[in-house]
Amino acid sequence: MIPEEKIIVALDMQKPESYAKILDTLQGSKIWVKIGMELFYSIGPDAVLGAKDRGFKIFLDLKLHDIPTTVENALTSLMKLPVDMVNIHAAGGSEMMRRASAVVRNSAYKPLLIAVTQLTSTTQPQMNEEQRVSGTVLESVLHFSKLAMTAGCDGVVCSPHEVKSIKAFCRPDFITVTPGIRPIGTDMNDQKRVTTPMDALRMGTDFMVIGRPITQSPSPLIALANITKEE
Ligand code: C5P
Repeated sequence: MIPEEKIIVALDMQKPESYAKILDTLQGSKIWVKIGMELFYSIGPDAVLGAKDRGFKIFLDLKLHDIPTTVENALTSLMKLPVDMVNIHAAGGSEMMRRASAVVRNSAYKPLLIAVTQLTSTTQPQMNEEQRVSGTVLESVLHFSKLAMTAGCDGVVCSPHEVKSIKAFCRPDFITVTPGIRPIGTDMNDQKRVTTPMDALRMGTDFMVIGRPITQSPSPLIALANITKEE
């Protein structure tokens, strides 16, 4: 069984009507929703308010990455919104993360602050040759995870395959948020390496992000029920 509270449904749509329809359908469940750039840039803060009004917990996935002062000010503006989780790029550096953490800690809603380490779309050659970061992707993920933890972040976004190593390298309660989840028998879409919800749970993930298998299902409620009853 997968607890609904561990599932974050990615609302990766741009149209207000599709957004309202899926929220109305899922209202009453204990899932979280993820509002990313496409929805926030399309309908703005109403995306957050509409989900909050319907009782959902909200992960605002805007992946802030800029100089420390700009991130601090941007987060200060975002902290007027009732969100439960926000994120920043660890590559922005320790000072940026420390200042972000201070803003979040002093805010009204005190959301969890999550860092993006290496995007899971980053390949080893791309990291070594384009970013000129040496070593393996996992080494870089672990390095950024510890940097984020030391700077006051609550956790990281990562692959389910990285969860165990991150928790061992950082601390067991350092939160892991994992996309790339596909229930058995569902379309991979453009995901390359996928993990089933039950395997992700066994790997120790704290929150699993699932989008299209639920939002594009003819019956999102049945799709959600099929996921939560997975053994
Ligand atoms: O529809 P699907 O389940 O593939 O949606 C996954 C969500 O997680 C999308 O919002 C995608 O942008 C996000 N994500 C991801 N892989 C990452 C980071 C975020 O799929 N490495």
